[in-house]
Amino acid sequence: MKNNIKNMFDSICNEYDFINDIITFRMHRIWKNDIKKLVHVLKPKKILDVATGTADIAIALNDVNDCKIIGIDISSKMLEVGNKKLKNLNSNHNTILELGNAEKLKYVDNFFDVITIGYGVRNFINLKKSLDEIYRVLKFDGSLIILETSTPSNYIFKSIYLIYTKFYVRLIGWIFSKNFFAYSYLQHSASKFPCGVDFINILKSSGFKAISSNVKFFGASTIYIAKK
Ligand SMILES: C[S@@+](CC[C@H](N)C(=O)[O-])C[C@H]1O[C@@H](n2cnc3c(N)ncnc32)[C@H](O)[C@@H]1O
Repeated sequence: MKNNIKNMFDSICNEYDFINDIITFRMHRIWKNDIKKLVHVLKPKKILDVATGTADIAIALNDVNDCKIIGIDISSKMLEVGNKKLKNLNSNHNTILELGNAEKLKYVDNFFDVITIGYGVRNFINLKKSLDEIYRVLKFDGSLIILETSTPSNYIFKSIYLIYTKFYVRLIGWIFSKNFFAYSYLQHSASKFPCGVDFINILKSSGFKAISSNVKFFGASTIYIAKK
């Protein structure tokens, strides 16, 4: 199963950023920028971006002063695209990307000031194990910031959103990546993944506290902020 997820992201790595722009009407960039603003206030020295993919968030955090950023992912091909983007940055960067699985992090306990995850958690095969690991490597009073797809609670928006994801996301994914399976999976996982209070309860069960959430675009995505 882990290999299926890895292979799927390997196979769409080159089109991933472009398709993300189309299916979110570039709004994912605004939401990733919201994460950046939240992180800046925290003035961290060590950040882990889990499921970094093509490293959008790790790159956005590059201008946090005097801070080391590590991005990890199970897909070497997504990381290759991320590394190309890092090389093209005009500025020096403090970011390294490495292979790593959220379920078994190689870092010592209480190591990171901030951990970010963008559209990653719903792909974790063992969500509980991954969140427990993330909790372990986060410092006490450190912050976990998660951006994930969610489902609008309003009936009308929910209906529009479900039609949009079911048809538009699959069609765009298929046209540009030629990988119908990948974008069917991504649509399906987005519609099934727990959001709002349900996800907050999952975070609580791994020990996180002071959890707040901030709904984006009528509930199409949500940013969760939690403390250890
Ligand atoms: C939808 S992409 C998100 C990429 C990026 N964070 C973003 O916001 O655009 C999900 C990523 O999660 C990675 N992933 C899935 N399971 C993982 C795991 N257990 N550990 C680390 N990365 C994982 C995939 O390889 C993929 O690159």
